[in-house]
Amino acid sequence: MGVFNLLKFPVALKLYLCTQCKSFRLKAPDNCLNSPGSMAVTWTTFNETESKVEYGLLGGRLFEMIAKGGATLFVDSGKEKRKMYIHRVTLTDLKPAATYVYHCGSDEGWSEVFSFTALNDSTSFSPRFALYGDMGNENPQSLARLQKETQLGMYDAILHIGKPACHSLFQDNARIGDEFMRQIQSIAAYVPYMTCPGNHESTYNFSNYRNRFTMPGQTESLWYSWNLGSAHIISLSTEVYFYLDFGQELIFKQYEWLMKDLEEANKPENRAVRPWILTMGHRPMYCSDDDQDDCTQFDSYVRLGRSDTEPPAPGLEDLFYRYGVDVELWAHEHTYERLWPVYGDKVYNGSKEQPYVNPKAPVHIITGSAGCREKTDRFNPNPKEWSAFRSMDYGYTRMQVVNATHLYLEQVSDDQYGKVIDSIWVEKEKHGFSAWF
Ligand SMILES: [Fe+2]
Repeated sequence: MGVFNLLKFPVALKLYLCTQCKSFRLKAPDNCLNSPGSMAVTWTTFNETESKVEYGLLGGRLFEMIAKGGATLFVDSGKEKRKMYIHRVTLTDLKPAATYVYHCGSDEGWSEVFSFTALNDSTSFSPRFALYGDMGNENPQSLARLQKETQLGMYDAILHIGKPACHSLFQDNARIGDEFMRQIQSIAAYVPYMTCPGNHESTYNFSNYRNRFTMPGQTESLWYSWNLGSAHIISLSTEVYFYLDFGQELIFKQYEWLMKDLEEANKPENRAVRPWILTMGHRPMYCSDDDQDDCTQFDSYVRLGRSDTEPPAPGLEDLFYRYGVDVELWAHEHTYERLWPVYGDKVYNGSKEQPYVNPKAPVHIITGSAGCREKTDRFNPNPKEWSAFRSMDYGYTRMQVVNATHLYLEQVSDDQYGKVIDSIWVEKEKHGFSAWF
């Protein structure tokens, strides 16, 4: 019989929203399709055990409910071929906005007790997010502040915009992945922790990323979308443009999916209730850092696509513009940069006095400075005119989708002890392609 190494190897537990409940390799319960009241719990053990979550409403009888799931065997491709079991259990029929207490594991060993608040399913709900990319297991400077703020209940969800661990999850025979999961447990066990793949996850064809995370949809967490409050949030892989060895057809597959998803989100009946369309992807289309990354090039792959593939691969800027994406969130550059509304390398401010009131192009934010071993990047001393604000401080971004017309963003500097060093309100009376004119 397997031993649950709970004490020797603390559980890497994550709590995820499952809007569609078709989490990969997890049998979808019949009542769970598109249900907002579900949550997926994911953790790792090093022996084969059952996958159970015992839970109950805060203040009620402890662990009065039980949900069972399943585990998949993940064999890391490193030299040691380390084995781990990734457990996934989906809790369904949760009461919106109610707080639950839970633990996970099996009768061979249980995790600590955690709690989470089921997401409010109302479209008039104003969700609060923390967002960042490139936070690593070494020098994760913003981690302590994020842990505390999450546990204080300041966020409804976290958007981790690629490159968890910086150091790469696969390293040291995937022990870095284990370590990173244990580090984010103090956040990810309490709120939905939504991810997208970054460049360092590419080793062994993103297998550590694909196995360890549980996002909605059927793409092993590579691209998916979900809804919260008045926002439709799309997570995508910019990496399909860079690792052609894993199949250049992935660029087209994702592009097709994005088009369909955006088409659906733009149906008048959908956009009326969820007017904000937000995207998150790891490598930005634009940036003014002083390195040779894709975003520093005028003809960035993410923005304009690749002409060296057969057939040529389309980029994302036109697509997002055509479907009226409001805000695009990026990371990868280890800095914070806010852009004026931009399209085709040109600034399209709402007006001179109020650039973000009825902007005439999407608003881009690059937030990749949460802290990792690579330290922060340097800026090019002569940025283009679309660069509105830049900071090299370690930190992260807060966002609130307040209502159908107002979205708030602010940048927290960890170097300056949590000081808010930048903030904007994006205000839109109209959403969609026609809002640009
Ligand atoms: Fe990156």
